[in-house]
Amino acid sequence: MSVIKVIRERRSVREFLEKDVPGELVMEVLDAARWAPSSKNSQPWEFIVIRDQETKKKLAKLAKFGWFIADAPVVIAVVTDPRKSYAHVIDGSCAVQNLMLAAWELGLGTCWIGTMDRDKVKELLNIPKELHLLTVIPLGYPKKTPNPPSRKPLKEITYHEKYGEKIS
Ligand SMILES: Cc1cc2nc3c(=O)[nH]c(=O)nc-3n(C[C@H](O)[C@H](O)[C@H](O)COP(=O)(O)O)c2cc1C
Repeated sequence: MSVIKVIRERRSVREFLEKDVPGELVMEVLDAARWAPSSKNSQPWEFIVIRDQETKKKLAKLAKFGWFIADAPVVIAVVTDPRKSYAHVIDGSCAVQNLMLAAWELGLGTCWIGTMDRDKVKELLNIPKELHLLTVIPLGYPKKTPNPPSRKPLKEITYHEKYGEKIS
């Protein structure tokens, strides 16, 4: 698939098939993540690959909008290091976008989980206090492709030369 096609067709997936994801595919999406751009090439990211069912169930309980986490065969926790980059959240977000797009290309679904009890998740996963837990990403084969949620029209969000000067 072309990059533009993957960008257009990727959806957040919240229902997964009961089908395992081979380790090589997990490494492939993580490889895509590590090629993301980062401030001063600081690469302030690290990943934890979680397959343990009990851990996934606990994660699902700690994420307010992540009840489906335990249904995914794999969950990837993404941590960033504020000491390595002032822009660690931006850097890490670039890596996660790469990860999500690569997963889609490989027939896998993901969903960014944003709201969770970060202190408790960090404790559960032995993440050092100094690191930032950016997100946890369930990864698996989608049960179905969700309908695309709408996007704002380009004309509404794009200006000519100066802010506020709409493109006709
Ligand atoms: C920072 C961030 C936090 C998000 N948090 C959650 C979440 O906690 N639970 C969830 O189901 N989806 C979450 N999402 C996914 C969005 O709901 C989703 O990207 C949006 O509705 C657009 O749908 P699409 O990804 O299928 O295009 C999050 C996305 C981002 C970028």
